Amino acid sequence: PTRVRVQHLRAAKERGERLTMLTAYDAVTARIFDAAGVDMLLVGDSIGDNMLAHPNTIPVTMDELIPAVRAVSRTVRRAMVVADLPFGSYEASPEQALASSVRMLKEGGAHAVKFEGGERVAPHVALLTGAGIPVVGHLGFTPQSENILGGKRVQGRTAEAAEQLSADAVALQEAGAVAVVLEMVPAPVAARVTEILAIPTIGIGAGPTCDGQVLVWTDMAGMGGWSPRFAKQFGQVGAALEQAARDFADEVRTGTFPAAEHAYWE
Ligand code: KIV
Ligand code: NA
Repeated sequence: PTRVRVQHLRAAKERGERLTMLTAYDAVTARIFDAAGVDMLLVGDSIGDNMLAHPNTIPVTMDELIPAVRAVSRTVRRAMVVADLPFGSYEASPEQALASSVRMLKEGGAHAVKFEGGERVAPHVALLTGAGIPVVGHLGFTPQSENILGGKRVQGRTAEAAEQLSADAVALQEAGAVAVVLEMVPAPVAARVTEILAIPTIGIGAGPTCDGQVLVWTDMAGMGGWSPRFAKQFGQVGAALEQAARDFADEVRTGTFPAAEHAYWE
């Protein structure tokens, strides 16, 4: 299959084709989502709350994220692999962001990086882009700032906040960003940002008018546990997996498994 590359993102927007992105944190899900034709796999810092049993994304480190990025990038044949920069790995300076991003590409095999923020991190985006590293922005509700934002709340609700969101999006685009994730933003505000940008917007809880959509895979697949209202469950994979484990345990206990065909007789 032809690899998804940065020029395909803008071309998709121009053609009005919606882009698809899911999180993936390991080879098992990367293989399945790549085979399903999902365009971009995000090795998100949401690995923290979804896989590593952290309370949120704040504790996630480069050393936790890089092995996950490596597993996903070694597995995909078509999807673009985007690695999140975790909290504390980029904010201090464009140089810090470059050093962390270089690790994501060299050690992780990522094709692009993503980090949170607008105008404030535009210099970071410009330095990375100049160094050959595609950057995806992340605006609206930015989980790494939840202590400042006062919890998981919709962002850009006032006229002033919506104006700032647009300014941030334009700043990221002008600095060279290849796409922008919009998280928990009113649908009309996301639609406006989508209209003024030439690069694609990828929404999560940002309404139907974005150029693409992203979900955390465990929410998308119905793995169980808490899910935000904006996340649709497209399957009940958690329940199916639990049933498979129950059937395995039952069959072992009753002596039904392994059957003759599961054994070597000589
Ligand atoms: O880490 C993540 O999963 C994300 C998406 C919610 C966009 O940043
Ligand atoms: Na993230």
